[in-house]
Amino acid sequence: MKTRILMVCLGNICRSPLAEGLLKSKLDPNKFEVDSAGTGSWHIGSLPDSRSISVAQKNGIDITDQRGMQFKPAFFDVYDHIFVMDTYNYEDVINLARTEADKEKVSLILDELFPGEKVDVPDPYNDSLRGFDNVFEMLDEAITKLAERLK
Ligand code: 4NP
Repeated sequence: MKTRILMVCLGNICRSPLAEGLLKSKLDPNKFEVDSAGTGSWHIGSLPDSRSISVAQKNGIDITDQRGMQFKPAFFDVYDHIFVMDTYNYEDVINLARTEADKEKVSLILDELFPGEKVDVPDPYNDSLRGFDNVFEMLDEAITKLAERLK
């Protein structure tokens, strides 16, 4: 059976699509399924933000097959690990957990680099393209470690 991993941010158009694309690029698709979702409903069915698409493309990753989904409690039954981008996402997802086992599936993605320090991936939505480059670099570093740990 495949290990299923979900990346979560607020809109599911900037950060978590990059996290999904990065993790997919580093894991065997026969062994792992990777998806992403947002805690908000604004971008259900949407393509990732064009700035995330460009930054990914520049780094050899195509994320244009992704479409926005909203996180729902049933996802706790589907996914083995849920990685959130920031502490707001963490609170939102934990508030939808039904059991302790659900809660244990949730962690901050930057815990891979800074365990227990509650470091956020900054929301680049209102930022320039540079903000997206910065987010990509941070996620690449964290997700390289995560992929090594999961393999
Ligand atoms: P994301 O960024 O959570 O990294 O996808 C955002 C995208 C859209 C909105 C907020 C954050 N929004 O309010 O529409």
